[in-house]
Amino acid sequence: MADYALAPSILSADFAKLGEECDNVLASGCDIIHFDVMDNHYVPNLTIGPLVCDALRKHGITAPIDVHLMVSPVDRIVGDFAQAGATYITFHPEASDHIDRTLQLIESEGCKAGLVFNPATPLSYLDYVIDKIDMILLMSVNPGFGGQSFIPSALDKLKEARKIIDASGRDIRLEIDGGVKADNIAAIAAAGADTFVSGSGIFGGRNESDANKYDSIVKTFRAELANA
Ligand code: DX5
Ligand code: ZN
Repeated sequence: MADYALAPSILSADFAKLGEECDNVLASGCDIIHFDVMDNHYVPNLTIGPLVCDALRKHGITAPIDVHLMVSPVDRIVGDFAQAGATYITFHPEASDHIDRTLQLIESEGCKAGLVFNPATPLSYLDYVIDKIDMILLMSVNPGFGGQSFIPSALDKLKEARKIIDASGRDIRLEIDGGVKADNIAAIAAAGADTFVSGSGIFGGRNESDANKYDSIVKTFRAELANA
């Protein structure tokens, strides 16, 4: 995987052609499939579950699948996503009654584990569990919907999270999610992110005349990252 990983959020893909959409973004040079799971309880929207993750694996997707759980409770669904081929499973600490237990559960199921921080959620949730973390996901919008605007305070929070990762000496990915576009990705990378979720930014850039439909938009994102 490149140092900088692009993780298109399939929330903005054409769900009637989901396998093909994933094939296309990966062929255009994206690294990770970001898979948003919403339950109409923890967040006010309803999306997709383990069946769809399993279907993508059966379709032939071999890239990492980054399952972002916006559900409560968390633990019941972890094993199902592990079975369905999830690579990363991340969850919101407020949605789990026993954060340490959930992290251990994800690891015991053979997946990489991460915590997700809403814009107003403090990073102090990392204090006693950093040794169990493979990914820190900072939300730069309030979760629930694609196509919202990037909340600028996420930049300072990224810097803070980067310091925590460096001090830990661990190999932890720092992912940002929400409102990531070609015109702000360089600033986001400069603040410390190495993994970039983008839903409307990437799928909204579909170009029918590109060989893989997303070649131009991914090239634009990569060029911005090269300047970061
Ligand atoms: C929001 C989701 C995001 C969303 C990002 O709750 O977690 O992954 O799809 O969409 P954009 O990139 O359009 O803000
Ligand atoms: Zn997400």
